[in-house]
Amino acid sequence: LPTHYTLPSGDKIPSVALGVWQASRGEVGAAVTTALQAGYRHIDGAWIYRNEEEVGQAIRESGVSREELWITSKLWNTFHAPEDVESALDDSLKKLDTQYLDLYLMHWPVAFKKDTTEVDKELTANPYPTWQKLEELVEKGKVRNIGVSNFNIARIQNLTANPLKVQPAVNQVELSYWNPQPELLAWAKENGLLLEAYSPLGSNKQVKESLEAPAVQTIAKQLGITPAQVIISWHVQRGTIVLPKSVTPSRVEENYHIFALPEDLFEQLETAATSHPPLRVVNPSKSWGLGYDVFDDYP
Ligand code: A2P
Repeated sequence: LPTHYTLPSGDKIPSVALGVWQASRGEVGAAVTTALQAGYRHIDGAWIYRNEEEVGQAIRESGVSREELWITSKLWNTFHAPEDVESALDDSLKKLDTQYLDLYLMHWPVAFKKDTTEVDKELTANPYPTWQKLEELVEKGKVRNIGVSNFNIARIQNLTANPLKVQPAVNQVELSYWNPQPELLAWAKENGLLLEAYSPLGSNKQVKESLEAPAVQTIAKQLGITPAQVIISWHVQRGTIVLPKSVTPSRVEENYHIFALPEDLFEQLETAATSHPPLRVVNPSKSWGLGYDVFDDYP
């Protein structure tokens, strides 16, 4: 299985990262320390996870050199106004205690008005002004690559219809056994866009159902690996980056060891995962009062 993927910039991004969403302050630092000792070189975070200082401290104290590491963060919805983008990045850089990010993502295709959770309809309908600021950050050397997250195909096309200087390097989306999104994955491959799988084990809400899925259990027993390793390996074999989250040291280590699944077993798992109605864990459309489904609709 690939240990890295090459982005349009030429940078090589490690295929397995430690995800730190829902890793609380007080436990995230130890998880990062364990991960770096286990060999991870990719940490996937975000400003809104409210743990960047502790992540930064653990990175600093690990002694792993910055050049060896891949650090991703994300621009929160309240900072989409062009004049707010750079200071939002600067805040993440300061908290992470680093000079640059390897990857900076627009966290959602949704903009909030400053200091509120009220949707800014104009900037939401047209993320290009926000994107142009992200392009500037690349020019300034503060971020090496930029991308998007939670964009459906129509939203990506809406963005890339503009004369972009820098194309989105990735789209980070929910991908799991219960929500495998085969159409989005096929489209991304056809269009040379790398996907990153968040909540790859189904997040805390569905992890049990994922690990206990019969297809996963059978393959794990057959190969003598754990159910989590089956699923994480499957993600990379599908051609995506995978971002498993854990704050349990033994699981952090377990999740880093992936194995190429024999083709027939891979196909069995792909068929099982895509043969039930998709079950999505993350969808804030209602709670944000969007009036549409951010994943399904394009108003
Ligand atoms: P914890 O962090 O307490 O170890 P996802 O990566 O899909 O978001 O899933 C994260 C959830 O899965 C967390 O509840 C995490 O628990 C749990 N988890 C992570 N790795 C494993 C593993 N190898 N085996 C069992 N549960 C795991």
